[in-house]
Amino acid sequence: MPNIPDHFNLKARDFGDSFVWGVSTAAYQIEGAHDMHDKGPSIWDEFTSKKGNTYKDQHGKEACEFYHKYQEDILLMKKMNIKHFRFSLSWSRIMPKGTGSISTKGIEFYNEVINFCLKCGLTPWVTLYHWDLPHALEEKGGWTNRDILGWFEDYVTICAKSFGDRVKNWMVLNEPMVFTGAGYFLGVHAPGKKGLRNFLPSVHHAVLCQAAGGRILRNLVSNANIGTTFSCSQITPYRNNRRDHMAADRADAMLNRLFIEPSLGMGYPWETIPVLKQMQPYMVSGDAERSVFEFDFIGIQNYTREKVKHSFFVPYIMARIVKASRRKVKTTLMDWEVYPPSIYNMIKRFNGYPGVKKVIITENGAAFVDKIEEGIVYDKERLSYLQAYLKQVHKAQREGWKVDGYFVWTFTDNFEWAEGYYPRFGLVYVDFENQQRIVKSSGKWFSAFLAYKKIDL
Ligand code: BGC
Repeated sequence: MPNIPDHFNLKARDFGDSFVWGVSTAAYQIEGAHDMHDKGPSIWDEFTSKKGNTYKDQHGKEACEFYHKYQEDILLMKKMNIKHFRFSLSWSRIMPKGTGSISTKGIEFYNEVINFCLKCGLTPWVTLYHWDLPHALEEKGGWTNRDILGWFEDYVTICAKSFGDRVKNWMVLNEPMVFTGAGYFLGVHAPGKKGLRNFLPSVHHAVLCQAAGGRILRNLVSNANIGTTFSCSQITPYRNNRRDHMAADRADAMLNRLFIEPSLGMGYPWETIPVLKQMQPYMVSGDAERSVFEFDFIGIQNYTREKVKHSFFVPYIMARIVKASRRKVKTTLMDWEVYPPSIYNMIKRFNGYPGVKKVIITENGAAFVDKIEEGIVYDKERLSYLQAYLKQVHKAQREGWKVDGYFVWTFTDNFEWAEGYYPRFGLVYVDFENQQRIVKSSGKWFSAFLAYKKIDL
């Protein structure tokens, strides 16, 4: 059995009694049951049905079958001492066409999940939107159509009214930079749209929905703890020269500032990325105020850092990410650099905004090749990754920066979007042939860490 070094001497209680420990997931990545009962197709059902869009044309039709196995998975979380479970709601399971009729079966499913969590002593943390827009809405332009504001408000109202009596922790959007950037600019995620004319309106409408969703939750859910989540990465200039420094600033504005700053009333970072001014035709009077919402917490999701260099060949931002594999650094299967100080720097960075009241790490984790021997799954690299990043979270906290929780991405291996099932991020291994779950070394360690126990792996 591989020897897993354990130089990690922190315990969960070193982070304080009120620190929230959990695991994060997303509907399309785990649920399966893609057309069960009334569920309408989402943009991910549509995108994965087209050849060439995902690794080996894989899709989430069955995924981890969480729809059928949610009790087993929640019971396993309980057994692993996990007390907080972040999952997302599938809009098209609740409203098959995105607007209009509501599926009682869809509502029932999430009621069962929520009630079962509570019965098992787990606190639900619900994300309203984790990238799976109802396809019917995409046919009307999706995020590029300003009408999405009304569609989203109706959807959030239904969710708040249906679940708000029991769910108190909410996140409005998951990583708007990724779903607008990958989905509406690069075309590598659903719905596969490209270019500025799709990207800019999508960004602005997501910013408006982010705040509108927050307001609805505030009005309808008593004692709500309302957040939203942002992808973020430390950005370092590739070379120490003026042009690379300026390129790094532009990449930073795009990747780290674009969505939080308007929500804090600071507007878009136009001065750093002038092309964003082309967003103005999509804005109407009052939008700057409409973009603002006082979130109770900001969820930051950090995996890596990026090194960026100046490039005349990249339109609009003239900055290029230098791939980690070309930099000869330790990488994960996603070709993301393992760079633990990034999470520390991002905690400090978000603390730097006076309007940010609380910071929670709503995702952190890594994909590596797992080693299976006689039915036991060893994942030494994931274990070391998680420990190294946690040390940095603890360092930030010890220095007095706000950080109030940490959710591992993710509980079970699942459908990793365009990369299909190849990169495994789970604490729990899934055999996709038979849907068997096996707790990996990292999962055993996390569960012992949560229980303040030391274990032999
Ligand atoms: C997303 C997850 C994704 C993870 C790993 C985040 O960007 O929220 O859905 O699986 O990163 O790529």
